[in-house]
Amino acid sequence: MGKLYIIYFSPTGGTKKAAGIIGSAWDCEKEEIDLLNPDRDLSKCRFGGDDVCIVAVPSFGGRVPGTALERLAMLQGGKASAVLVAVYGNRDYEDTLLELKDTLDGAGFFCAAAVAAVAEHSIIHKFGEGRPDDRDKSELAAYAQRIRKHLEDGGSKGEVKVPGSRPYREYNGVPMKPAADKSCIRCGRCAKECPVQAIPQDDPAGVDRERCISCMHCIAVCPVKARHNNKLLLSAAAQKMKKSCGGRKENQLFLP
Ligand SMILES: Cc1cc2nc3c(=O)[nH]c(=O)nc-3n(C[C@H](O)[C@H](O)[C@H](O)COP(=O)(O)O)c2cc1C
Ligand code: SF4
Ligand code: SF4
Repeated sequence: MGKLYIIYFSPTGGTKKAAGIIGSAWDCEKEEIDLLNPDRDLSKCRFGGDDVCIVAVPSFGGRVPGTALERLAMLQGGKASAVLVAVYGNRDYEDTLLELKDTLDGAGFFCAAAVAAVAEHSIIHKFGEGRPDDRDKSELAAYAQRIRKHLEDGGSKGEVKVPGSRPYREYNGVPMKPAADKSCIRCGRCAKECPVQAIPQDDPAGVDRERCISCMHCIAVCPVKARHNNKLLLSAAAQKMKKSCGGRKENQLFLP
C-alpha cells in the first residue's frame, strides 16, 4: 500500500483519539491532516489509489458538522480507500456515517469500511465519561486489524454500506455558545483557533452567537479554563438527555 492518512475534525480531541487508535494498526508511513487547522490548503491534498485514509468526524445532532463537510469536500480522493469513523457522545449517530460517505464519494474516495465509536460527550461530559476507555481501545484496535486484513485482501467485496437515511435528519444547532468569565487573560488562543472565526480577536471573551457552531474547541484550548456554557442551559440539557444518553452505547464495525 501507499501511505496512511489520518484525517480528522476533532474540536475537543475525542475524535482524534478514536482515529489514532484505529490508525495504530498500520505500521507504514503516516500523515495526519487536521481539518480544524485553517492554515492548511486542503485543495492541495491529493491521494492515490494505494493510499488508505482514515476519515474521522464527530456526530453533531446525528449529522456531520457542516464545517467538516465543507473541508472534506475540498480533498481530492483519487480513489484512495477511505475508512469512515463517526464518533458520538453515547446518544446516537443517526445519519453521520451516511452523510460522511456521500461526501467522500463526491470527493473521489472509495469508501471501504466504517466504524462508529463512542467518546465522552463534549458538552455534557458525564455522558460517555472517560471513553474511549480500555475496553473501547481493544475493540477499536481489533476492528482496525480486521479492516487492514480486508484491505490487504484487495477489499474485493465492494464498497461499505452504512446505516442512515436520506434526507438526513434535521439539525439546527444547539444553544450552547461558550463565552469567557473574568478570569480571561486575553491571550487570544480561542479566537485564533475557533474553526469558524466566531470569537472577535479584539474581544476574545465574547462570541458571535450566529457564527458559533458550538464545537467546544475554545473551552478545550483555553489555558485558564475561562470559557463556559450557560450553567442553566447545561443542566436543562443534561436532564433532557438523561434517558437517551444513559447506559453504555457500543462501538460498531461495518465491512462489505
Ligand atoms: C454541538 C454538538 C452536538 C452533538 N450531538 C451529538 C449527538 O447527536 N449524538 C451523540 O451521541 N453525541 C453528540 N455530541 C457529542 C460528540 O459527538 C462527542 O462528544 C464527540 O466525541 C466530540 O468529538 P471531539 O471530542 O473530537 O470534539 C455532540 C457534541 C456537540 C458539541
Ligand atoms: S466560539 Fe463556538 S465555534 Fe468557535 S471554538 Fe467556541 S464553540 Fe467552537
Ligand atoms: S483562550 Fe481563554 S484566556 Fe485566552 S482569550 Fe480565550 S477565553 Fe481568554
